[in-house]
Amino acid sequence: MDIPVRNEGGAGAQAAPRYPLSLRINGQPYELEVESWVTLLDLLRERLHLTGSKKGCDQGQCGACTVLVDGRRINACLSLALMQQGREVLTIEGLAEGARLHPLQRAFVAHDALQCGYCTPGQICSAVGLMNEGQARCRDDLRELMSGNVCRCGAYPQIVDAVEEVMFGSAGAEERDRPVIVGTVPA
Ligand code: FES
Ligand code: FES
Repeated sequence: MDIPVRNEGGAGAQAAPRYPLSLRINGQPYELEVESWVTLLDLLRERLHLTGSKKGCDQGQCGACTVLVDGRRINACLSLALMQQGREVLTIEGLAEGARLHPLQRAFVAHDALQCGYCTPGQICSAVGLMNEGQARCRDDLRELMSGNVCRCGAYPQIVDAVEEVMFGSAGAEERDRPVIVGTVPA
């Protein structure tokens, strides 16, 4: 898809150089031109209007901007858009198949795993990445490996319940009563 690029300089201002960028986002091809300093998050939100990915801290500390690049979760605020040349980016907007929500999206609804919802796109994308990684074997692993995704509303118990249900199915219920290791995601 060709997206027109604005000239953000004023009259007479020297235009900053832009560089070609080809990538796929949520299954769609994009041919873009961007300045070297534009982050992936700003490209998504400000230029492509994919505002599902949130800007919380803009410095890699909250996880609100988590997206998947070639199936791996990253903080989009810490990555330059040009670093994603040729890659496949998946955002929260691309998870559902038409009207059918992704299982994690359904689980978040079923478990009431959000309050304000600001962290939710990042939480869900991070959980998809976590499942792709295949490292979490129990609820405590899940809490630790999701610790980069902060929820200011404190919906952690429900978030973990939702991810656990999708990741472990009914077996997850057996892990539910295990003691929490101090230092993992706060309840
Ligand atoms: S906005 Fe990217 S980690 Fe907080
Ligand atoms: S639901 Fe509000 S920040 Fe997580």
